[in-house]
Amino acid sequence: MKNVLIIGSTGQIGSELTIELRKRYNGHIVAGYITGAEPKGELLETGPAEIVDITDKEQIAGVVSKYRIDTIYNLAALLSAVAEAKPQLAWKIGMEGLFNVLEVAREKNCAVFTPSSIGVFGNNTPKDKTPQDTIRNPRTMYGVTKVAGELLSDYYHIRFGVDTRSVRFPGLISYVAPPGGGTTDYAVDIYYEAVKSGHFICPIAAGTFMDMMYMPDALHAAIQIMEADPSQLVHRNAFNITAMSFDPEIIAANIRKYIPGFTIEYRVDPLRQAIAESWPNSLDDTCARNEWDWKPVYDLDMMTKDMLSKLQKQGAVNR
Ligand code: SER
Repeated sequence: MKNVLIIGSTGQIGSELTIELRKRYNGHIVAGYITGAEPKGELLETGPAEIVDITDKEQIAGVVSKYRIDTIYNLAALLSAVAEAKPQLAWKIGMEGLFNVLEVAREKNCAVFTPSSIGVFGNNTPKDKTPQDTIRNPRTMYGVTKVAGELLSDYYHIRFGVDTRSVRFPGLISYVAPPGGGTTDYAVDIYYEAVKSGHFICPIAAGTFMDMMYMPDALHAAIQIMEADPSQLVHRNAFNITAMSFDPEIIAANIRKYIPGFTIEYRVDPLRQAIAESWPNSLDDTCARNEWDWKPVYDLDMMTKDMLSKLQKQGAVNR
C-alpha cells in the first residue's frame, strides 16, 4: 500500500499523474490543490482531495498526518516564461515551497519527487547530447529555482536521509491539461491549431531544437524513478531524460503527414526564443537508462498520430 500526496494535482502533470497513481496503488492518493484550481470530473470523483498550499507548511503537515502519507509528489511551480514575469512568486513557490515539503518529509519520513527541467542548463552548457553531470548556469528564475531545488533535495538526502529523487523533464506534450507559460508550450499549441485552423503562428524560430516527451512517458518516468531500487541510484536529483528532439520545422512536417494542408508561420517571441536558445538541443539520458532502466515508448511520429486523433475526437476544445 502507498499513500501519496500530489501537490499541484490540477496542473499540467498533476491532473494526469494523480489518476495514473490511483490506478496503480490502492492507498490514499490525495489530490492537493489551491483555491481557484479545484479538481473536477474524474480527478475529483476517483479519490480524496485537500487544499494544500505549498507555502503553508502546517497545511502540508496536516494532510500528511491525516492520510499517513509516505510519498509526496511536489508539482507546484510556475513555468519558465511566466516565472520571468513573476520572479518573486516563482521563488516563493519553487524554493520556500520546496523547503516546506522537505521539512515535512524529514519530520514525517516521506519520499519526495520534485520535477526538475531542461531549464537547469544555460548558455555555457554543452548543447548537444548534454551530459548528466555538467555546467548548470541558467539565467532564468525558473532555472535558478530548479538548480537550487536539485541541490537542496540532494542535501536533504545526504544530510537527513530523506528519499528525494527527480528527473529533468524536457517539454511535455499532452492533450489533457494545457501547460501555460512555458517555453516548450509551442509544441502543444501547434497540435491544437493544426486541428482547429490548419495554421500555426509559431513563437519559436525555425532551427531551434529542444528535447520533448509525450505525457504517458513522463508519467511513467515519475512513477518508475520512485519505485527504483535505491541501491542502483548513483544520481538522485535529477536525472536527464528525453524521448525526442525537434525544431518547429520538423514537428510541422510531421503534422503535415496527417493534415497535408497544415501551414506554419513565424512570429518569434524574444523572451521565449532567448530561453529556448539557452537550453540544450538534445540531452544524454544514459545515466537514467543505466541506473533505473529508463526507456521512452513514444517517438515524434507515434506522438503526432495519437495527439491528432485524440484532439480530433475532442474537437480541440480544451485550449
Ligand atoms: N516545459 C518547461 C517550460 O517550457 C520546461 O521544463 O518552461
